[in-house]
Amino acid sequence: MRHNEAMFVSRAVLVFALIVPVWADVTYSKEVSRIMQARCQQCHRAGDIAPFALSNYEDAKTYAEDIKRVVTDRIMPPWKPAAGFNSFRDSYALTDEQRTQILDWIAGGAQEGDPADLPEPLPVKETPWELGDPDLILAMPKYTPPVRPSDTYRCFVLPTDLDETRFVSAVQSAPGQKQIVHHVLIYVDETGDSEKLDGKDGQPGYTCFGGPNVRIGIGGLLGGWAPGARTRHLPEGIGLLLPKKSRLVLQVHYHPSGLTLEDQTQIGIWFKPKDSVNKRLVNIPILNDRFEIPPGAADHEVKAQQAVLPFLTGKAITVAPHMHLLGRKIKVELEKLNGQKEPMILIDNWDFNWQGFYTFEEPVTLPSFSTVRVTANYDNSENNPKNPNKPLKAVRWGEGTDDEMCIAFIGVVFDNENLIPFRRK
Ligand code: HEC
Repeated sequence: MRHNEAMFVSRAVLVFALIVPVWADVTYSKEVSRIMQARCQQCHRAGDIAPFALSNYEDAKTYAEDIKRVVTDRIMPPWKPAAGFNSFRDSYALTDEQRTQILDWIAGGAQEGDPADLPEPLPVKETPWELGDPDLILAMPKYTPPVRPSDTYRCFVLPTDLDETRFVSAVQSAPGQKQIVHHVLIYVDETGDSEKLDGKDGQPGYTCFGGPNVRIGIGGLLGGWAPGARTRHLPEGIGLLLPKKSRLVLQVHYHPSGLTLEDQTQIGIWFKPKDSVNKRLVNIPILNDRFEIPPGAADHEVKAQQAVLPFLTGKAITVAPHMHLLGRKIKVELEKLNGQKEPMILIDNWDFNWQGFYTFEEPVTLPSFSTVRVTANYDNSENNPKNPNKPLKAVRWGEGTDDEMCIAFIGVVFDNENLIPFRRK
């Protein structure tokens, strides 16, 4: 064989080796089952929020084409913060490797592989409470949302009957009917105004959409829950204030399921030991309530900002952006005095259905004279399938489904607790 020919042959072998598809290797039993346990099954299991289970090979194979679409378009899993713009704890986003493996698996014909490679199935949970038994469990009255094709948003008033002010370490919602409870926001009502609205229409609670429809103090948002969220204790010495005798207002978003289901969602609260807290976590809303989104505007920008005052420096631990149905994108940044910007969160495919409280991997230090800036973009055109306004109209701030909001709640611990400009009872 002449030298050239040998070269040719070995190159051909090399090229052939390169085009042997990598997906030939990926099987359900080995890789995909493990990804589904880690990233899909907390929702895609019997009786939970997702419309079908992804518990075994048959399930995964049946939905392979849908999985391909939602994984390619990054619709599922519904973890919203954009990668590379700060990082968060408890993320259930797919890594690039996991995404590639799922797509390779489908491209390779969704092979089962050897069932001997399967992982142990996830344990069945005995109790809904993630951190052991809560110190206080509050249940909303039983309520059956109407069966209709649209969503139901309802607020329920839960008296705490606390004789003394306590600090909360963690809060969790345990949906009564996981198939229909889509998200829960928990507010603290110190005035009792929510009781005046309760039951007015003959049903427990009252209709509400973007908020509790009553005035709440700054820091009056206790927490929120959406499927897939994990509950954690606040760090030592830090708590959320729950004033004595206050009521919780639970805003529950029900998903239309076509089923008549009676729900009784519960809230579990874990307190900090008495006298162990010297810092409060306060959910500060950074908002703009004076905007108008013109009808037809496909990319209307609204900004909100809040300066960090010299005596009110601190650390941001969590962030929770909030818009309604026209929202498309929301970005929160910290701008330092020298103009340098630090990313806090970016959600570039906002979905009202998937709003969360995100905990920073590393708390964000808020120095004097820095500014937290929120930039939100809205699509008020006909091309937005979620636009509730037909015909189109100018949209402003409000609590209704057809109104909008521009808020980022940041959970802050201030350096100098004594200067917090809030009432302490
Ligand atoms: C946090 C809960 C949650 C997680 C995690 C999750 N899903 Fe879903 N999924 C849902 C819900 C709820 C729906 C129903 C549609 C909706 O509400 O967005 C859904 C719908 C789907 C659909 C149908 C969507 C359509 O447009 O037809 C597919 C396919 C899917 N999920 C695949 C996955 C895969 C694959 C994973 C993991 C890689 C995953 N999901 C992780 C909750 C979740």
